[in-house]
Amino acid sequence: MPDSSTVVRQIRFHITRYNPELDRVPYVKTYAIPVREGMTVLEGLHYIKDNMDSSLAWRYSCRMGVCGSCGMLLNGHPTLACNTQILHIADRELTVGPLPNFNIIRDLVPDLTPMFDKHRSVKPFVIRADETEVNEPAGEFYQSPEELEAYLQFTYCIKCGCCMAACPTLATDVRYLGPMPLAAAQRYNVDSRDDGRRARNQVTGAAQGAFRCHYAGECSRACPKGVDPAKAIQHLKRRLVLDYLRLARRKKPCQKLHGPGEGKPLPNIPAAPGKTVPGDSFPNLPERSP
Ligand code: SF4
Ligand code: SF4
Ligand code: FES
Repeated sequence: MPDSSTVVRQIRFHITRYNPELDRVPYVKTYAIPVREGMTVLEGLHYIKDNMDSSLAWRYSCRMGVCGSCGMLLNGHPTLACNTQILHIADRELTVGPLPNFNIIRDLVPDLTPMFDKHRSVKPFVIRADETEVNEPAGEFYQSPEELEAYLQFTYCIKCGCCMAACPTLATDVRYLGPMPLAAAQRYNVDSRDDGRRARNQVTGAAQGAFRCHYAGECSRACPKGVDPAKAIQHLKRRLVLDYLRLARRKKPCQKLHGPGEGKPLPNIPAAPGKTVPGDSFPNLPERSP
């Protein structure tokens, strides 16, 4: 329980509740809780569960924006509950709901199974053509900092589903692959060690693949990790067209090293490139009253 001397104000949490065994449709229940400076939405939910309503259900694990479990809809924006301070987004009222575009398992717990099925369908791993090397590895593959930078930002994805919840195309067509799986496909397609792009094209270039994206950019705005799935999808589209027209340049084979010290020493790994879609997760918040 927050120390009463540090409590800044009471905030009313309007939380979507739904137990499929008891409720015909989801409904909203309100809890007023004491909030102190720095308290996260995740801590607010814990306060409610510990002191007011032990039946409230949500998913979380790491509490530090790493595991991707606690994605939910806060004041209409999909984001991480553990990474969001209550007083940064709420003055007196805060709405908390499950991520849209997913079925609800219970309360704030979305069923992410379709997202993970789609993710698996794009073969999110390095595929090598040289099977001998796969079965009997004889060296390591050298990557230059530039080659690393081509896919680095997409590796920051924690599979939280916030981009999928923000996507208007997915809202109207559940079969659309969606931003997370498509960004994962791009991550491996541009990896200099990978030979699997044409296999992935079968999925990413299909009717429910990259060309369903309207480039609204909501996915990139929603991403709490600074990944830019919208950019990944536009690059995917370009490459799909070039592959279809047989105009794509052949990838330079990755240099293989056979022992330590054979490659050039690597300078510092570069920072992830900036987003193509600017903006933060909560662009239109009202001013907080003093
Ligand atoms: S791209 Fe961002 S929003 Fe989408 S699943 Fe990955 S981390 Fe979450
Ligand atoms: S850019 Fe594409 S994937 Fe991202 S939200 Fe818009 S339609 Fe969805
Ligand atoms: S609890 Fe792990 S990302 Fe929020």
